[in-house]
Amino acid sequence: MITLGIETSCDETAAALVKGGREVLASVVFSSLEEHKEFGGVVPEIASRSHVEAVLKCLDLCLKKAKIHLRDIGLIAVTQGPGLMGSLLVGLSAAKALALALGKPLVGVDHVVAHVYAGFLTDEKLSFPCLGFVVSGGHTVLARMDSPSRFKALGATVDDAAGEAFDKVAKILGLGYPGGPEVDRLARGVRSTRFFFKRPILSRESLNFSFSGIKTAVLYEVRKLRSEQERRKAAKEICAAFQESVTEVLTEKSIQAAKSQNLKAIVVGGGVSANSRLREKLWARSRKEGIRVVFPPLPLCRDNAVMIAGLGRALYAEGKRDTLEMGSYSDFEEFLRSANAGN
Ligand code: KG4
Ligand code: ZN
Repeated sequence: MITLGIETSCDETAAALVKGGREVLASVVFSSLEEHKEFGGVVPEIASRSHVEAVLKCLDLCLKKAKIHLRDIGLIAVTQGPGLMGSLLVGLSAAKALALALGKPLVGVDHVVAHVYAGFLTDEKLSFPCLGFVVSGGHTVLARMDSPSRFKALGATVDDAAGEAFDKVAKILGLGYPGGPEVDRLARGVRSTRFFFKRPILSRESLNFSFSGIKTAVLYEVRKLRSEQERRKAAKEICAAFQESVTEVLTEKSIQAAKSQNLKAIVVGGGVSANSRLREKLWARSRKEGIRVVFPPLPLCRDNAVMIAGLGRALYAEGKRDTLEMGSYSDFEEFLRSANAGN
């Protein structure tokens, strides 16, 4: 069976066609990023309008690339939440219209869980239970996953998400949006002796994160630098020291979470899972602990519809079906509450 995945939770409009749950026939991602850049972050209204223009074009392009017809699609999977409400509604409406017109089943998918599921699409040896670790622009979540639909949140950020912290620090340094890739690039191979940012660990027992303090600490250091030239000179070292602190906390807490649940695999997902230092650190640390760590390939770290189709297909196999009354939600907490009520 061929599954069509549709993703419109933030600034990426994405469609993908996946055969049998794993074989990617086509994947198209259109980003409205350029339109948001001058505002230093995603503007919801611009994102929604862009999705309206792009969603059917993405679908058409996918069909062309895969050389199939609409009638060959057997299942439609769509991001239900969390995300920007206006953006989600565009994808959801398109998915519902297609399901109705084609007479095909419809499955709503959670975007955060899908980020973890991306690892399952490319690593055949991976199995449940595992620790799902989502580090994206909107979420930092540690969860025990027993199946595609059964999971328990173990920890999350109490303030900024990891990607958000990267974006804010980049903004302080005048590096543009999104900041993560640029901070990663500038910090590569740099070890700072001049700057050190305290590791924001809430307490030994807690599996929660807090990243707003480190962002403020960076701001104070940058304010101490008198000239633009000084700031430019210090930027690489500040990026390296900041990245070192954040990736160390992400590494330690995820290992601690896996050990607390006796889980032998960590599956990382979301935009920050592309970070080169996080990959290095978590690989090295997990090897020592005898824990397997799986990072999806880079195109599946960022927002995409392959992960939506993949998870949608897995949920369909478990019996999930949604109706045309399906609504969207903006908040991951809301999803967790309803998921746990159903388990
Ligand atoms: O998963 P994603 O594409 O969108 C959300 O669902 O939020 O994640 C986007 C986030 C942005 O905050 C971006 O700065 C961050 O991922 N990011 C990175 C890197 N690449 C993207 N952060 C650190 N290092 C990277 N290489
Ligand atoms: Zn995402």
